[in-house]
Amino acid sequence: MGARMKSPPKTFHVKSFGCQMNVYDGERMAELMAADGMTATDDPNAADLVVLNTCHIREKATEKVYSDIGRIRKHAGKDGRAPMIAVAGCVAQAEGAEIVRRAKVDVVVGPQAYHNLPRLVADAASGTATLDTDMPLASKFGALPARRKVGPSAFLTVQEGCDKFCTYCVVPYTRGAEVSRSFAQVLDEARALVDAGAREITLLGQNVNAWEDADGRGLHDLIRAMDRIPGLSRIRYTTSHPNDMRQGLIDAHRDVESLMPFLHLPVQAGADRVLKAMNRSHTRDSYLRLLDRIRAARPDIALSGDFIVGFPGESEAEFAETLSLVDAVGYAQAFSFKYSSRPGTPAADMDGQVAAEVMDDRLQRLQAALNRDQAAFNAQAVGRTCRVLVERRGKLPGQWLGKSPWLQSVHLLGDYAIGDLIDVVLTQAGPNSLTGEARVAVAA
Ligand code: 5AD
Ligand code: SF4
Repeated sequence: MGARMKSPPKTFHVKSFGCQMNVYDGERMAELMAADGMTATDDPNAADLVVLNTCHIREKATEKVYSDIGRIRKHAGKDGRAPMIAVAGCVAQAEGAEIVRRAKVDVVVGPQAYHNLPRLVADAASGTATLDTDMPLASKFGALPARRKVGPSAFLTVQEGCDKFCTYCVVPYTRGAEVSRSFAQVLDEARALVDAGAREITLLGQNVNAWEDADGRGLHDLIRAMDRIPGLSRIRYTTSHPNDMRQGLIDAHRDVESLMPFLHLPVQAGADRVLKAMNRSHTRDSYLRLLDRIRAARPDIALSGDFIVGFPGESEAEFAETLSLVDAVGYAQAFSFKYSSRPGTPAADMDGQVAAEVMDDRLQRLQAALNRDQAAFNAQAVGRTCRVLVERRGKLPGQWLGKSPWLQSVHLLGDYAIGDLIDVVLTQAGPNSLTGEARVAVAA
C-alpha cells in the first residue's frame, strides 16, 4: 500500500462524521497536526491531506465515507492535484485494510491510535505501510498536545468504549471495552479548556455514566470536582446508559448548580420483548421508574433519548409500546433511527427483519410524536427566565445564538460577545428554537 512517493502535506482538513466523540477526536487530530507544523484549512479542496473521521454506526454512515473519497478524488482529478486521504474513526477500525483495497487511501487509523497520525502521514508520503488499528493498553491521551484554543462550549472525552453489547450495535467492536481516563487527567484537561476559553464542558463517553476510577470514584465525583473550577459555569455529560445511572449522579442533579438540567438517556424501544432481544438489560418499567427518581431530584430536567424502529421481529403492537412510552415520558428532544443491520452483530442474523416501508412508516409516526413533544417542551418554557450561553453569531445583524440550560437554541438580539452568559426571559418558542430578551449581562 502507498508505494508511490508523495511530498509531505503542508495543509490539512479534518471532516468528522457521526457522534460528538468524533468531533472531539477530530479537534485533537487537528491540534496534533498543527503541533507537527501543518496548517489547517476549512476548504477540503485546498488541503494537501484530508482526514475523514468516520462513523460506522449505521450502513448509510459507512457508505458516506466511500462516496466522500470518490468526491475528493474526482475534484483532485480536475486540477491535477492529488491530496492524501486518511481514513480515521470507526470505519477505519472496522474495515481496516479493506478500505485500502477498496478505495486506495493513504492512511487508515483507528480511534485508539490517532496519536500516531503525523508519523503515519509521514510514512505514507515516503511510501511505507500506513495502517494502524491497534487498541494499545496505554492510552493515546498522554501523547496528545495540550488544549489551547476552544469555543465557549467544549467537549472532553472521559470514557471510551462499551461493554454492553446491545445486539444491533457495532460500538463494542469499533471502540473496544469500557475504559475511563484518570480523575487527575480529566481535571487537568478541564482546567486547560477553561483557560483556553471554555465556559461549558460536556463530558463525553459511549457510556459516560459508567466512568469510574481505581479509587472507586464515579462520574458524580468528577462533576463535583469540576464544579469547583473557577470560570467553568456549566457541566453536561453524554451519552448515558440507564443501568449505570447511580444514585450519586442523580443526587448531583439535585445539588450541583453548574450541572445543567438535561439528560440524554437512550431507551431504544418501549416493549420488553424487544428490549430483551436488544440485550438492553433494562425494562420499560425500570426505565420509567428511573426517570421518576431523576425527576424527583431535578423536576425541570429536560430528557432526551435515542430510539430504533424496526428492530428484527418488532411487531406493530410492540412499536405501539414505543409510542406509548414516548407519550409517558414527554421528551424535550430525541434522536430516532431505522434499524440498520450491521455485519458481525447478533441482530444481523435474527429472524424477522422488518421491511423498509414498515420502518419508514414507523419512523414517521415516531418522529411526529417526538416533534410534538419537543414543540410542547419549548412552548412551556416561554415566560421563564434563564441564563443563556452565547455560542455564535446568528444570521441577522446583531443576532446571537446561544443555549438555554435545557439545551434549547435561543436567539438573542443585542451587543454581546461569544462566551457571554446572559440572563434572558424566553419570549417565543418554535419547534427547534426559542427567542429570548436580555435582562442583565453577568460575568462568567
Ligand atoms: N441501527 C440503527 N440505529 C442504531 N444505533 C446504534 N446501532 C444502530 C443500528 N444498528 C443508534 C442507537 C444508539 C445511537 C447512537 O445509534 O439508538 O443509541
Ligand atoms: Fe451500542 Fe448499546 Fe453500547 Fe450504546 S450501550 S454503545 S447502543 S452497545
